[in-house]
Amino acid sequence: MRRKLALVSVAAVVATTGLVVVANQAFAAAGCTAKYTIVNQWPGGFQAQVDVTNLGDAITSWNVGWDFGNSSQTITQIWNADKTQSGLHVSATSLSYNGNVATGGALSFGFNGAWSGSNPAGANLTLNGTACTGGTTTGGPSSSSPSPSTSTNPGAPTVALTSPTNGSSFTAPATVGLAASATAPGSSVSKVDFYNGTTLLGTDTTSPYTFSWTNVAAGNYSLTAKVTSAAGATTTSAAVSISVTTTGGGGTHVDNPYVGAKVYVNPDWSAKAAAESGGSRISNQPTGVWLDSIAAITAPSGSGYTTSLRKHLDNALAQGATLAQFVIYDLPGRDCAALASNGELGPTDIGRYKTEYIDPIAAIEADSKYASIRIVNIIEIDSLPNLVTNADGQAGATAACATMKQNGNYVTGIQYALGKLHAAGTNNYEYIDAAHHGWIGWDSNFTPSAQLFASTAKGAVGGVNTVDGFITNTANYSALSEPWVQPSTTVNGQSVRQSKWVDWNQYTDELTFAQAFRTALVGQGFNSNIGMLIDTSRNGWGGSARPTAASTSTDVNTYVDQSRIDRRIHAGNWCNQSGAGLGERPRATPATGIDAYVWIKPPGESDGSSSLIPTGPNNPGGKGFDRMCDPTYTGNGRNGNSLSGALPNAPVSGAWFSAQFQQLMQNAYPAL
Ligand code: BGC
Repeated sequence: MRRKLALVSVAAVVATTGLVVVANQAFAAAGCTAKYTIVNQWPGGFQAQVDVTNLGDAITSWNVGWDFGNSSQTITQIWNADKTQSGLHVSATSLSYNGNVATGGALSFGFNGAWSGSNPAGANLTLNGTACTGGTTTGGPSSSSPSPSTSTNPGAPTVALTSPTNGSSFTAPATVGLAASATAPGSSVSKVDFYNGTTLLGTDTTSPYTFSWTNVAAGNYSLTAKVTSAAGATTTSAAVSISVTTTGGGGTHVDNPYVGAKVYVNPDWSAKAAAESGGSRISNQPTGVWLDSIAAITAPSGSGYTTSLRKHLDNALAQGATLAQFVIYDLPGRDCAALASNGELGPTDIGRYKTEYIDPIAAIEADSKYASIRIVNIIEIDSLPNLVTNADGQAGATAACATMKQNGNYVTGIQYALGKLHAAGTNNYEYIDAAHHGWIGWDSNFTPSAQLFASTAKGAVGGVNTVDGFITNTANYSALSEPWVQPSTTVNGQSVRQSKWVDWNQYTDELTFAQAFRTALVGQGFNSNIGMLIDTSRNGWGGSARPTAASTSTDVNTYVDQSRIDRRIHAGNWCNQSGAGLGERPRATPATGIDAYVWIKPPGESDGSSSLIPTGPNNPGGKGFDRMCDPTYTGNGRNGNSLSGALPNAPVSGAWFSAQFQQLMQNAYPAL
């Protein structure tokens, strides 16, 4: 009965959109499953998420419809979609950057809403007019005529692809066994066709319906089975995604690449560290290699770079290293909420990002010569969090971030990077940057960030399987643990959350934040074995100013300021922080859910210059000047209008800053 209604609605949509259907011409297959989740609800308000899987043909734009249960329910703010609401009915439509959804692909968006009385979940979800009830239907003879006589339709056949299972991976050249179960109520099954995307792989006419797909090359594939009944009706199964990867000798893709690994020491950084008095105590530590421009890939002479990506990997082989860490950092319109690390690519340069930046990196990382090295890519610092908190409506919003949200090139670029780099080999590991607790720890930022990360990854070729984990605190200064300032701590009956420092944040330190955010990400659909990295390069806060006991003050602000490990003026400060020290030394599996503590920001490399340095010998890359790096600056909306806390006399971002390096060693915690 329900199936029949679906057939009618497919025909009705085609009729009203004016498509002319020629007899015998097949309809595009349409179908979907949908989930409406109330993520959070409070008196008068709620936050919801809609996830839709496209079971039909690939689409280039979408319109997701549903009905609210009562007239009090309205959308107040939506992300990753536009909306129109008429009475109880809502339509959410794709934006410029997220309209393409492959067969088997998913789309999702979220919104904040208002309600009173009751807040039932949205019902009657549709995708481009087709009810999201499960399988896929092309109609068959009865519905391919303009006035369908659906009452004589013997009922749509059913089909499910039972093998391989969704998300499974194979090693190239692979043999993939496909199997399907199929029924044809009121008729009989005449055949089952097996497809890769729209390419027919093979057909079986007798049960059990199977096909052996041999010699499959590396890549990500979306497989379906299509049943045709003797009456001529067809149904296509839900799609199954698989990935086939080359090992190139790279071997098994492990859960936590840091376990048992010898991590590459960047000789360029190591030499600068060793040249500092006392620097040899840490100069053999592994640090991240920042690929912060196209020139960083090949390091041509005169570019200011000394070591190309290939040379780094060759160096790693020579060191006997089995893991190397690279920072992928060149998005169009990079660093939209600040000025010290603005990139070389303009907001619309997505084509150059793909072909001149990601493609060459992926090609080098795919070289089987480097298969013995686990290649960890840290994906695009600050970018997705900037879309959540700095694009519109908030205290820190900038026009540049609004532009990048609007044109979608952060999302598109990261999707491209994930798909390409993941496919570079089983020895490749992707970790997306997830800001830090003092940025997305608040409830209002926490869930939307996890949702945006998930919708972004789901849109990558290979989906969430491209993501091995996330990194927090990259190049930041947030303390790992705050023993005396926990969200549950109270002072004289008052929660520390109401102190000026904590400012109602749900988290006060990086470790608890990273662990909780990992759980939230798994809840949004990331694999349950993802792991977190925490950049502990500069979050030690040791030395004489480090508190050794909880304050005895009964004033909540005094208590927090005297007890906290993080000695910054404001948790929003990020540039060359005065008083900071080296944090935990890099090591694997330091805590539950944490793959490793890492030093991604190389200690001693500046975050930005204290004053404007014109392009020239001291600023060959033309780096910008951000006043958050000026010790006299009194702040903005993103740091509570506080002093910047930056060290004076700093060089441009990435340049060696000896005074900072000395301070970091001085205040190391654990001490050197
Ligand atoms: C700079 C990069 C530099 C990196 C590591 C970033 O802030 O923008 O150019 O490579 O820090 O020091």
